[in-house]
Amino acid sequence: MVVARPYIVGNWKMHGTRGMLAEARAIDRVAARLSAVEVALAPPYTLLHGMVEVVQSIGVGAQDVHVAGGGAYTGDVSAAMVADTGAGFTIVGHSERRGAYGETDADVRAKAEAAQAVDLNVILCVGETEAQRDAGKAEATVAAQLAGSLPQGEHAAARLAVAYEPIWAIGTGRVPSLEDVAAIHAAIRADLVKAYGDAGKGVRILYGGSVNAGNAAALLAVADVGGALVGGASLTAESFGAIIAAASLVHETR
Ligand code: PGA
Repeated sequence: MVVARPYIVGNWKMHGTRGMLAEARAIDRVAARLSAVEVALAPPYTLLHGMVEVVQSIGVGAQDVHVAGGGAYTGDVSAAMVADTGAGFTIVGHSERRGAYGETDADVRAKAEAAQAVDLNVILCVGETEAQRDAGKAEATVAAQLAGSLPQGEHAAARLAVAYEPIWAIGTGRVPSLEDVAAIHAAIRADLVKAYGDAGKGVRILYGGSVNAGNAAALLAVADVGGALVGGASLTAESFGAIIAAASLVHETR
């Protein structure tokens, strides 16, 4: 069986000025060496074009897009503008956007569809709060988020990855047990197949939340974990490179 290359994506959040492009180049060199892994970075908008210009082996994408193609939306950036930088994808529905800007599932779906309409790939984030997990509602929460935010349309599944990011694991150093990761990823897979039929089988499901060089191999070896969305540990070539190397080893032993 051919196993898809693991997809390791760095979310730089609101970190990085032009000096950080040197770090992106160093990450690009690691990715060129470890071609069994698909690597990408999502820097702030201000670095998209500059990063596209200096890397060769990694994908570059945005962290969010506006739903509209253009117009009187001060401070916002459209999917077409992201595509125009040469970027190839965008994250949508990150919990920091859902939380700080009140983005609903319907907003997230509209963003995903706006991005796919201009041929950007989409990484759609879902995940439960700690209270929801403690109440035994993690799977139901994620299922509801997917039901409300998965993009519709004939080719939606082909341009999609889903990132499962439990909110309590983001930036905290805490990660769910491997059993819990396996259970949620299996549930997400079932939801994707329900939504897209056979095409749902090919959608990559990434795990995100405190991924680092020490835990990446174990997480990536879990069934249906097709990659990782990495925040803090993606900011240097040293720490992100170690995660890419771990992913490469896991892939080789499959
Ligand atoms: P973290 O962030 O790796 O710093 O926990 C992950 C994310 O928010 O995508």
